[in-house]
Amino acid sequence: MMKAEEYRMFEQKYIEYAEPYFLKSAKLEGGLRIKFDHSFRVKNRMIEIIDIDHESGYEFDKCLASAIGLYHDIGRYRQLFEYGTFKDSDSVDHGDLGYEVIKQEGVLSELSEIEEQIFLLSVKYHNKKFIPSGLLKDAYPYIKLLRDSDKIDVYPVMLDSFEEKNLFTKKIVHLGLEESEKISEEIFDDVIHERLPDKEAMKTITDFKVLLLGWIFDLNYRGSFIILKDLDLLNRLIQSLPDSSKASVIKGKIYSYLDKALKQ
Ligand SMILES: [Fe+2]
Repeated sequence: MMKAEEYRMFEQKYIEYAEPYFLKSAKLEGGLRIKFDHSFRVKNRMIEIIDIDHESGYEFDKCLASAIGLYHDIGRYRQLFEYGTFKDSDSVDHGDLGYEVIKQEGVLSELSEIEEQIFLLSVKYHNKKFIPSGLLKDAYPYIKLLRDSDKIDVYPVMLDSFEEKNLFTKKIVHLGLEESEKISEEIFDDVIHERLPDKEAMKTITDFKVLLLGWIFDLNYRGSFIILKDLDLLNRLIQSLPDSSKASVIKGKIYSYLDKALKQ
């Protein structure tokens, strides 16, 4: 088990890693600060999900989970600095890069072999479309917890950005997508079949909204659904959809899936 002082050391080292990047480029600082703040919230949210889901039977190490949450996006700093984008397909997979950065920085030397593997695997697989089978068994609960928490935190960031007037933030967060009410066929088809939509299939901002709704098919913990409901995030997102027949089919699908998930 990780001790609270050990976690604090992780936090200190994280801040020491991030700060030089803020100073290096005034232009990129805004984008990096979004990821910095996001990382702290993701860590807190992971603990919140653990606390709601304690009846699920798995005994998490909360300090380890917190450290993983804080570090999960550490690859974003080099990604934005070296490539000027957060879009993985135009640059580098930021989960893989994070895995490398953490190994290079040598921050895991105090952890046991198993903890180190859980940490690295969680960072590496937090952003992949699917989690592969055959990984270390104890890594799965942490990978799933991180993925849930990461997704939950993206909702308010994106909702704010849809109303954002700042063009620079928009450009970075919206990945250059077309401002249109159109929903692409592939994205629509995935969501109505309860499949996680493919990021690469997004063409418009509305696709992005639908993709975010489709993320609920990949949530693992009941606590995650409860938090989404309490924060009213999905309702806000649904209300931001256009008034089209495709959009109303999607709304119906999402509401019925949520109902099921909350009843379990
Ligand atoms: Fe990430």
